[in-house]
Amino acid sequence: DPKALEERLKKSIRTIPDYPQPGILFYDITTLFQDPEAYKLAIDHLVERVRPFRPDVIVGPEARGFVVGGPLAYALGVGFAFVRKPGKLPREVVTAEYEKEYGPDSLAIHRDALLPGQRVVVADDLLATGGTMGATVDLVRKLGGEVVAAAFLIELAHLGGRKFLLEEKKVPEVVTL
Ligand code: PRP
Repeated sequence: DPKALEERLKKSIRTIPDYPQPGILFYDITTLFQDPEAYKLAIDHLVERVRPFRPDVIVGPEARGFVVGGPLAYALGVGFAFVRKPGKLPREVVTAEYEKEYGPDSLAIHRDALLPGQRVVVADDLLATGGTMGATVDLVRKLGGEVVAAAFLIELAHLGGRKFLLEEKKVPEVVTL
């Protein structure tokens, strides 16, 4: 029952006003991941939403993209590629700049993280403005990957991330729980 699922997961996520800056309502997913039943439920559902896209690899941005993308890749029997903040990856990288809710930032991926033509699903915990995922997609494309979908646990629809990702043709499909 999708309504019950939504309620169950909503209850397990805590919101904190004015963090990390005044005016930002922070969605704290640590409580979802502390709750084994909610974590399993959320990942199992997202796996079934992503499976039809037949990804060859899942790509996720640090840090919370790892705890969503990692289990997705494992469950689907494909690899996972790390997108990280600059200075964290030891071999040759490509980088992408983007605007965050809290200011400018950049992300990096190993040049050999995926092969040209591979089908990629990008995954993260939360879709807000779409800036993080937009940059993640730019990185995948620089390596010649084909982004087939973006997957999130939570979407803050009022921040317009889905519209941004679809209208800027960053991704053909956005899936959430
Ligand atoms: C948060 C969240 C997403 C992103 C969503 O990560 O985990 O990655 O913001 O916002 P956007 O759609 O407006 O880009 P954050 O940048 O706080 O990094 P962290 O996961 O490493 O803490």
